[in-house]
Amino acid sequence: MSGMAGAFIEAKDLRKTYHVGKIEVEALRGISFSVQKGEFVSVVGPSGSGKSTLFYLLGGLTRADGGSVVLDSDDLATLTDAARTRMRKRKIGFVFQKFNLLPTLDARSNITIAQEISGNGDRDPAHFNRITDLLGLTKRLGHRPSELSGGEQQRVALARALINKPAVVLADEPTGNLDSKNSDIVLSMLRRSNQELGQTVLMITHNPEAAKYGDRIIHMRDGQIVRPEDDPQWVAH
Ligand SMILES: Nc1ncnc2c1ncn2[C@@H]1O[C@H](COP(=O)(O)OP(=O)(O)O)[C@@H](O)[C@H]1O
Ligand SMILES: [Mg+2]
Repeated sequence: MSGMAGAFIEAKDLRKTYHVGKIEVEALRGISFSVQKGEFVSVVGPSGSGKSTLFYLLGGLTRADGGSVVLDSDDLATLTDAARTRMRKRKIGFVFQKFNLLPTLDARSNITIAQEISGNGDRDPAHFNRITDLLGLTKRLGHRPSELSGGEQQRVALARALINKPAVVLADEPTGNLDSKNSDIVLSMLRRSNQELGQTVLMITHNPEAAKYGDRIIHMRDGQIVRPEDDPQWVAH
């Protein structure tokens, strides 16, 4: 079996260009890499290097202009929109920099809504209790987002991402708006879910300390993957 055959996520020559009026922005200029099942990979790179674009393509939230993404044997480009949406709900837990919680729901409902959306009939109260306990949310479950700190909101968002035990967790700058204490809680939880539940984690960050939580670091620059020694920001740290 070749190394690639065992890949859980495989990106091949991914390309994405945005059109802004007459201007073309080549956000991704041929990105190829693979991630094995159960790996925790960090993606680093300066602002504008294409990290979020990669995140959207890997999660099936946007379509690539070229290349392919295979996630757990599903080729995202060949799935219908409906099938891609189903795949996302079943297999991927998303964490965004800006939390994206529903303002009218309390913390508990912001977490359990992910189970309802996925049609996950297999509710596991022990899993809910364990995650919210590890994230220090037990006493905050009745609070709405406006009644929570930024760190607490991101912990709720992470609980929502993990509640369905997704095979893959995709996180885009999950600690970008957090202080160091909350960052530690979020990063430790990501590592724990990777180690204990075998979840494959791909985390985008521009914080070298956060990146170290991963088993391996992919460096991006100008829409391409570069060697660590060619990432000046990284070398500076
Ligand atoms: N929706 C968009 N429309 C036009 N240009 C975009 C859009 N999203 C991102 N870009 C541009 O694409 C490039 C990569 O952006 P992005 O993927 O957000 O990088 P990063 O997350 O590393 O900061 C940047 O030059 C950015 O300005
Ligand atoms: Mg970004």
